[in-house]
Amino acid sequence: MSGVNEIRSTFLNFFARNGHEIVPSSPLVPRNDPTLMFTNAGMVQFKNVFTGVEKRPYQRATTSQKCVRAGGKHNDLDNVGYTARHLTFFEMLGNFSFGDYFKERAIELAWDLITKDFGLKKDKLLVTIYHNDDDAARYWKKIAGFSDDRIIRIATSDNFWAMGDTGPCGPCSEIFIDRGDHIWGGPPGSPEEDGDRFLEFWNLVFMQFEQVTKEERVPLPRPSIDTGMGLERMACILQGVDSVFDTDLFRHLIDATASALGHGPKQQTVASFRVIADHLRSSAFLIADGVLPSNEGRGYVLRRIMRRAMRHAQLLGAHDPLMHRLVWALVREMGQAYPELVRAEKLIEETLRLEETRFRKTLARGLAILDEKSAGLKKGDMFDGDTAFTLYDTYGFPLDLTQDALKSRGVGVDITSFTDAMDRQREKARAAWAGSGDTKTADYWFPLRERLGATEFLGYDTETSEGIVTAIIKGGPEINELRGGEAGEIIVNQTPFYAESGGQVSDVGWIKRASDGETIAQVLTCHKEADDLIVHNVKVIKGGIRLNDAIRLEVDHSRRSDIRKNHSATHILHEALRQVLGDHIAQRGSLVAPDRLRFDFVHPKPISPEELTRVEDIANEVVLENDEVTTRLMGLDEAREAGARALFGEKYGDEVRVVSMGNGDREHGQNALGWSVELCGGTHVRRTGDIGLISITSEAAVSSGVRRIEALTGRHARKHANDTMALAKAAAHELRTTLDDVPERIASLMEERRKLERELSDARKKLAMGGTSAGTTSDIEEIHGVKVIAKELHNVKISDLRSIADDYKRRLDSGVVILTTSSDDGKAGLVVSVTSNLTSSNNAVQLVQAGVPFLGGSKGGGRPDFAQGGGNNPAGAREALEKIKQLVQPISVTAKSE
Ligand code: ALA
Repeated sequence: MSGVNEIRSTFLNFFARNGHEIVPSSPLVPRNDPTLMFTNAGMVQFKNVFTGVEKRPYQRATTSQKCVRAGGKHNDLDNVGYTARHLTFFEMLGNFSFGDYFKERAIELAWDLITKDFGLKKDKLLVTIYHNDDDAARYWKKIAGFSDDRIIRIATSDNFWAMGDTGPCGPCSEIFIDRGDHIWGGPPGSPEEDGDRFLEFWNLVFMQFEQVTKEERVPLPRPSIDTGMGLERMACILQGVDSVFDTDLFRHLIDATASALGHGPKQQTVASFRVIADHLRSSAFLIADGVLPSNEGRGYVLRRIMRRAMRHAQLLGAHDPLMHRLVWALVREMGQAYPELVRAEKLIEETLRLEETRFRKTLARGLAILDEKSAGLKKGDMFDGDTAFTLYDTYGFPLDLTQDALKSRGVGVDITSFTDAMDRQREKARAAWAGSGDTKTADYWFPLRERLGATEFLGYDTETSEGIVTAIIKGGPEINELRGGEAGEIIVNQTPFYAESGGQVSDVGWIKRASDGETIAQVLTCHKEADDLIVHNVKVIKGGIRLNDAIRLEVDHSRRSDIRKNHSATHILHEALRQVLGDHIAQRGSLVAPDRLRFDFVHPKPISPEELTRVEDIANEVVLENDEVTTRLMGLDEAREAGARALFGEKYGDEVRVVSMGNGDREHGQNALGWSVELCGGTHVRRTGDIGLISITSEAAVSSGVRRIEALTGRHARKHANDTMALAKAAAHELRTTLDDVPERIASLMEERRKLERELSDARKKLAMGGTSAGTTSDIEEIHGVKVIAKELHNVKISDLRSIADDYKRRLDSGVVILTTSSDDGKAGLVVSVTSNLTSSNNAVQLVQAGVPFLGGSKGGGRPDFAQGGGNNPAGAREALEKIKQLVQPISVTAKSE
């Protein structure tokens, strides 16, 4: 008997041996198909390779593809647990030829694998083909030796495979096994075909066409092959069991559940064990691929799956959250084939634990209401939709959980009244917008959001994805098309573009045509409306964008990586500041741009250079530790209890993303979730080491009590450091010294310069005064009994003139000093200095004002004991002196008596 892991590797190795590249499974959230909720077939990742838009370095590939069928067009959720083969998560094994081999070789390979490697008995096998595919019939005859009755021609779409309304497609051939006449059922195409006797396990698609529009189908550049084998079905066949839940992998998961609960499956409880095993797989794989529970879109499908399993855990009598205690068993079974499961193990456990802990708070009460309100209902009755809505809205019961709970009794749910109740609640939400005064949102964006649903943001996990254009807006009204050269706004069902919020700037990038990758528009900015509608501001370059177009959205990668670095660095600096400056640090605002970050916070005084250095050192240590950056989804209250930092005054939903980095150290009073733990919806690096380097470039006050630091990261920090180093080196070179000695050298040069300036000034003064020091008696004349020194000097700076005047004045107990200077470049200056006992009769200001006109100036100024002025007529210096001398007054009586 072959285990599931062995079957998978046998398949992959068989095709590898036959020249196929083993390609890893693509994520469950398809990047390249905006119409798909989840990847549901192996060919999804190769869609563009078939049509020739995308090139890969191989022409043959084989994969074991993770698939989820829940929530979208293919929804198996309701049946899981109650049938032998329905699963929400399954693995599709496939081999692909991109224009290499075609029908004959595909059939040959398939036949070899199943009859030799898998050892299936030839006489138990039969196939279907598309009714007019004579080639396929001929090859099956030749290769398998089938008679006509084992090659069943089918004319329906069952044998013409298409991935959707558009895309690659072609006739297909399905391989069946006859499990024996002890099981009821007939061959495909017969009236009993729905029975379990004939089991289809492999579909070979001969990709020949591309469905371009509903009406137009064109041949593919080169015919190709796409096959899909359900691994779980093949395991049933090879292990000789009827139900996928009896294969080894599921048995191990069910055993793990039984041992966690302390009891195993019985007839009445087996469905619950099966639901838990299947839902554990789909939840874990979705979380590993970046989906987190939410109330919209993919996240809501995940939540529905998780909660459905959690109700079954409750039914099985689990007293505590159960699901997270099963993750190890799943990782043991499937971790080797899917390493992402191992990488995300902690996140999966935690997400399941948090969700189950929260849900259990309302689950018991909700189930009690459900029991009470459905007590009198019999098979065929309808459960009241209003109550189903209350269960949904207040108790967190997704509609399908309520349906599932009533299913075994044959009771349905009244969907009409459920929908009415939902509509009434929407109306209330719109009224709340209007009440908030935001009329534009209430009247314009909210209805749009209600019609289109929230934009699914894929940008946490990818920077490129396809999306369907759901609305085009130009200056208000909605239109059907934006043509080349036009600017406008577009909304898509899903996008990797981050719309400006929480301090992080909007992404920019490009829009390309999905069919051929041609760039058609630029995304200039994005904004968020009515909470979760992402609106792209675009300028069309070429061609046009029409409603319902499939477009490829590509975020400017290098800009986004710079933004990620700056956002994570902001969190790190926040915590480092708190460690250095104290617990009072509270964020007041931030800007996360590609080229820098800015962080405003409460702190009463400037930060010293030493403190700033410590902050920077701590931050860079965290960078060097290169810890993983983890995102969790938590209830707001829980997140606060766990110590996550929130922005004061910010509006948060009930559910918040919590971003943590570094290792928490509980012993030192730190948060157990991590070193830095913040509520944040922004985009971050994967590991702190991705930041490279954090360099604080400034610290300043923004307003009273609020400081701001600015910093650079990554290549910008490195460039800043390089530029600074280049400057320092240039300085050292100029100073003819080593880098280390630059500060000392500059200090000594400055000292030398001060000394020289002093000497120069003294020398100038001496020179100006004819080589003598001030105040020799020969300079003094007396005018009306007042001692006066009046001198004409040359080429003395006005600042020196003042100090010369001071020197003179010191020598006169009482008197007036009048000095002029004239320079060779045509400037003239004048100062008058009066000892304080004379100022009432000889006001220096008036004296200067009398002399300045002779120097070609208009006015001078100063105080009564000292004034100065100047002009550009040096020739008038003598006259100015004479004029002032004439105005000198005798010492006044009052002044004398003072
Ligand atoms: N793409 C084919 C399928 O899903 C193989 O059945």
